[in-house]
Amino acid sequence: MPSKQEIVDQLKEVSYPGFTRDIVSFGVVSDVVIDGNNIAVIINLKSQDPKIAEQVKKDVEAHLKDKNNDMTIEAKVSLQQAAPAAGGVQQMSLLKDVKYKVAVASGKGGVGKSTVAVNLAVAMAKQGLKVGLLDADIYGPSIPLMLGVTEQPKFDGEKLIPIEKFGVKLMSLGFLVDSNDPVIWRGALVTRALQQLMTDVKWGDLDVMLFDMPPGTGDAQLTLSQSVALDGAIIVSTPQDVALADAVKGVQMFRKVNVPILGVIENMSYFVCAHCGGRHEIFDHGGVERECKRIGADLLGEIPLDAEIRIGGDKGIPVVSDSENKPQAIAFQEVAKKVSEKLNNN
Ligand SMILES: Nc1ncnc2c1ncn2[C@@H]1O[C@H](COP(=O)(O)OP(=O)(O)O)[C@@H](O)[C@H]1O
Ligand SMILES: [Mg+2]
Repeated sequence: MPSKQEIVDQLKEVSYPGFTRDIVSFGVVSDVVIDGNNIAVIINLKSQDPKIAEQVKKDVEAHLKDKNNDMTIEAKVSLQQAAPAAGGVQQMSLLKDVKYKVAVASGKGGVGKSTVAVNLAVAMAKQGLKVGLLDADIYGPSIPLMLGVTEQPKFDGEKLIPIEKFGVKLMSLGFLVDSNDPVIWRGALVTRALQQLMTDVKWGDLDVMLFDMPPGTGDAQLTLSQSVALDGAIIVSTPQDVALADAVKGVQMFRKVNVPILGVIENMSYFVCAHCGGRHEIFDHGGVERECKRIGADLLGEIPLDAEIRIGGDKGIPVVSDSENKPQAIAFQEVAKKVSEKLNNN
């Protein structure tokens, strides 16, 4: 029969989901009880996410079974009770019928966040996923334009029905405010507006919802991390140092609120000349990859600087929906595939 210490040592070989650190050094293993042929491991997670609990239970039981196959193994995993989040607001669990909730964020505006969000959403829908896209950029909602939506969402007497385009359900504050009327909102209003886009919209069951975030680390980011349990964040950056420095700040902010970073996308990474076919690195290509290594984040992909990507955005026909086999569309499809895989493995 193994000793308690032997079991603890074996548990040091089980890593915490999404991290390289093991569950023992993470301090979540509270006790190991060996009783006859039974081993019970008591685990108290600091997370409130039942998916993490499920994964830890599975990993612990499989690993211990492998090492002690004549014993019965049970991992008893409990989640932390909801604690008031920063600012004293209780974390709410909005969007319960959405399996994965992912923020697409950046430190700076104009780096192509919305372009990436739209093309990823359409690419994921083409993979057969049920996808929602919530335009959370209160100050510059651009999703309706980029998906060529001109109609207003309908109201069924109780909730707003999201507009469906290219297989993606979308909702934007742009639908609700006059586009010529600059929105200067602060704090509580941003919070309320964003929460309404989650609670007062009939999203239905979804596999994944992407949030197109405003730039920076302001009220919308805080609201979102307090209102929903985000499953991950994707950071978009261009290769220049200034954008990159802001992207790193974005990564740090999400880490602080325990949102896993799925990775970073280098947008406008390089330019392929339509005439000579040559690859031109207009900005300092490679910077994002270096920075990713330094901060321990994955590089999810490199999207070229390409006229068709811009035109697709302006015309409301995203490049992934229109030119499936072209390199710029393939670049988005590959990122989408990586993101789905990461979500499923988390
Ligand atoms: N890879 C790209 N190639 C060419 N143009 C791009 C690319 N990514 C974004 N753009 C263009 O750059 C502008 C800003 O992109 P946008 O997605 O609105 O940025 P953000 O949401 O970060 O402010 C848009 O006109 C868009 O069409
Ligand atoms: Mg945008």
